[in-house]
Amino acid sequence: MFTSAEFGNDFLWGVAMAAQQNEGAPDVDGRGPSIWDTFSKRRGKIKDAGKPWPACDFYYRYKDDLMLAKGLGFKVFRFSISWSRILPEGTGRINKEGLAFYHRLIDECLLLGLTPYVTLYHWDLPQALEKEGGWASYHILKWFGRFVTICTQEYGDKVKDWIVLNEPMGFTSLGYMLGKHAPGKKNLNLFLSAIHNAALAQAEGGRIVRTNVKKAHIGTTFSCSEVIPYTHKPADIAAAKRLDILLNRLFIEPALGYGYPQEEGFVLMDKLYMQSKAWKYTDRLKFDFDFIGIQNYFSITVKHNQIIPYVHALEVKAATRKVPHTDLGWEINADSLYRMLKRYWLYGGVKEIIVTEGGACYKDKLINGVVDDKERSQYFNDYLQAVLKAKKKGVNVNGYLAWTLTDNFEWNEGYKARFGLVHVDFKTQLRTIKNSGYWWRDFLLHT
Ligand code: BGC
Repeated sequence: MFTSAEFGNDFLWGVAMAAQQNEGAPDVDGRGPSIWDTFSKRRGKIKDAGKPWPACDFYYRYKDDLMLAKGLGFKVFRFSISWSRILPEGTGRINKEGLAFYHRLIDECLLLGLTPYVTLYHWDLPQALEKEGGWASYHILKWFGRFVTICTQEYGDKVKDWIVLNEPMGFTSLGYMLGKHAPGKKNLNLFLSAIHNAALAQAEGGRIVRTNVKKAHIGTTFSCSEVIPYTHKPADIAAAKRLDILLNRLFIEPALGYGYPQEEGFVLMDKLYMQSKAWKYTDRLKFDFDFIGIQNYFSITVKHNQIIPYVHALEVKAATRKVPHTDLGWEINADSLYRMLKRYWLYGGVKEIIVTEGGACYKDKLINGVVDDKERSQYFNDYLQAVLKAKKKGVNVNGYLAWTLTDNFEWNEGYKARFGLVHVDFKTQLRTIKNSGYWWRDFLLHT
């Protein structure tokens, strides 16, 4: 047994969510369409033709949900600002009602003693900007810069904790190369441009927050997954190394001032490196972040496969290897989080790490008012022990934000993939605290 007290009094315990996944209310109070609103209307893109509305109706139910977060013992509430609520066309006209919503939300957090951690970009680009090229367009720096300026000037006296981007590797690869997420593109050149623009926006966004917010605590988040070669064969080891560059190094290294990672023979990285040389401002990729957000959901085992473009790495699924996994097939491997925390900590320039997301998806069943999701509690139990172990070994990891408070719109997986500590009946919006929610309450309030 371990206790929350062992993490220290200053450890940040929180929950995280995102505007597009929770708010609903897509065309209320002047909000413009986002790329996910548009993408979800394309046939076959989202499971069961799910749309990101009403999601869990957070736009109207935020007070109840914040009460739930507080009641379960959390002290930090991470949410993102919908760019399309503030700037319905992405640029130009500011929507006052959109600004007002986040004032209400922030004020309610502060009233309840929940520290708001605000993400500036969690994947919901205004559709109007996608028409102009989206993240693949160099103009994104100007567009994003303005959005960040508006948000920080508006809320900077109330909010001190800012997260610039949520998982740039996620939205650039899934959105511009693999076509699984909005805007659904599959194009190498767009992907490479999006990588460089997102890496620049990450640093530029940090600089804007620093200028506008006194005593700001600024971070950005990276997805990470330990990549394990299936065998000791050199080809499998090389495949794992290539995927590791993409999944774990591509965005943090330029942010820390090391430039893009290089690897002999990795054509994709060579192309990125060559392209980025031709672009402007390569010297502006670095920013001195106060903290690095790490989001680790699974480890991944791969073997060499020539057919997979560029990385030549094929996943050997957890189910095939008969090792524990969640309902999305993601391997449960808490030790891999421990190793990733140690690894990131060893980079020169990382001052503080916060686990800004972690959680598990299960096919929860609500039976007689109870969701007995033992696996999810076990997942948190194991992953938190890994965090504690890293902390005891000297890693400056200062927080853990559970993904997520309520079941919500899980991107292309729609509504069946549930990650919440609180069950949502999407027809009635009835909330039921799952046993994992009670597990957190006991862990935070009674240990
Ligand atoms: C994203 C969340 C998402 C979660 C589970 C993270 O990569 O930031 O938006 O819901 O993973 O898939």
